[in-house]
Amino acid sequence: MATPPSLLIQDSRTRRVFDVPIHNGTIRAMDLRQIKEGPDDFGMMTYDPAFQNTASCRSAITYIDGDKGILRYRGYPIEQLAEQCSFLEVAYLLLEGELPTQAHLAHWRDEVTHHTMLHETTKKFLEGFRYDAHPMAMFISTVAALSSVYDDARNVLDPAARRRQVLRLIGKVPTIAAYTYRHSLGLPYVYPDNDLSYTANFMNMLWKMVEPRYVAHPALTKALDILFILHADHEQNCSTNVMRSVGSSQADPFVSVAAAAAALSGPLHGGANEEVLKMLAVIGSKDNVPAYVKQVKEGHGKLMGFGHRVYKNFDPRARIIKWAAEQVFEVTGPNRMQEVALELERIALNDEYFIQRKLYPNVDFYSGIMYQAMGFQPELFTVLFAIPRTVGWLAQWQEMIVDPEQKIARPRQVYTGAPEREFVPIEMRTLVTSAAR
Ligand code: ACO
Repeated sequence: MATPPSLLIQDSRTRRVFDVPIHNGTIRAMDLRQIKEGPDDFGMMTYDPAFQNTASCRSAITYIDGDKGILRYRGYPIEQLAEQCSFLEVAYLLLEGELPTQAHLAHWRDEVTHHTMLHETTKKFLEGFRYDAHPMAMFISTVAALSSVYDDARNVLDPAARRRQVLRLIGKVPTIAAYTYRHSLGLPYVYPDNDLSYTANFMNMLWKMVEPRYVAHPALTKALDILFILHADHEQNCSTNVMRSVGSSQADPFVSVAAAAAALSGPLHGGANEEVLKMLAVIGSKDNVPAYVKQVKEGHGKLMGFGHRVYKNFDPRARIIKWAAEQVFEVTGPNRMQEVALELERIALNDEYFIQRKLYPNVDFYSGIMYQAMGFQPELFTVLFAIPRTVGWLAQWQEMIVDPEQKIARPRQVYTGAPEREFVPIEMRTLVTSAAR
């Protein structure tokens, strides 16, 4: 029988050799604790700011190969899912592990659409926001506020209660998103219409005016469905890590999703799509692209929508979005920003600075232009990301809750502060600035 693979580590301080087992190409960080300089030593840890080389969980949901540009949900290539599935079908796949049969899908659709209404008090809660509040701030707060509506949400160890919250969250996030938009325009809220598809209902809640029902162009509902599929999960990204971390304390899923959405709102994560549009507006025209790129290379800002922690070849989602954007422009007509974006992409992809650092357009580069062409305001872009990502957060949360290896998330630190020192009474203190220390 072949010997199981292991890592031989020699500690040059003690000359001792340690045999650390390798599983799935990883070693267990806790196995390093036995490596000590002496009996009082705490033991070896790894130092990994921003988790660049640390697996925090085992997961069977999403597979990414960043060098080859591969993304799969539950083993299915993202390209096939985007082309052939509806968003709710993919949501079922991510949460349940298998693609639904027709009967399962019909039942699942029915269950989700029966949870699309918001409690009237939640509607009133939304009314309390200032007219110019950012939709993402309203979204985060309102999702957290749902924790006050559903008492059973705290029973995170009860599978039936967990499932109820999953349905509630997937059903309600489009309604909250649409209400934040209507609120900022001072328009009356539109109640969900359960006869419509997930995306068509969302568009109806956003844009219905005095007509009985807003009729969205089928190419646009399809495009939005594709965008939702592409954004549904992306393994252990910043916001998913927050979802798992907050959820690991057994906090309820409403506050955990709100925390994850807060992480998503940052410009380096889901907030990038809004920033891309702002950047394209600043560039203004194709002719200004070289000067803008030069400025970025000199260290003034970043090309928003470029670069990724994991994808170092291409982002497969960006390719699909580029294709979907073309379908949208066929309906909406050419987009002014598209020309600038194409030129920016062309110049950056041929520039040594970006080639060397393996910086390629990511999912956010084209999604913003596409959303804008479809009639969404830039302030709503990150909320549009949060709706489908809620499914991924919940799938990862469910997996974490039942994983016997998981515990409350609690990283270690390398302490770099002052050693123990004597307390100084206030009247005897002199001010020492941090620079002088
Ligand atoms: N424009 C210009 N230079 C960049 C960019 C960019 N968009 N991204 C990275 N770089 C440079 C860095 O300055 C660094 O250069 P250096 O080696 O000379 O110091 C090098 O490339 C490596 O970058 P890191 O910051 O170490 O890469 P990291 O993996 O930490 O960051 C991130 C990834 C946050 C996505 C980064 O590329 C970025 O800020 N991009 C712009 C924001 C964006 O589009 N975010 C959306 C990501 S996708 C998503 O969250 C859905």
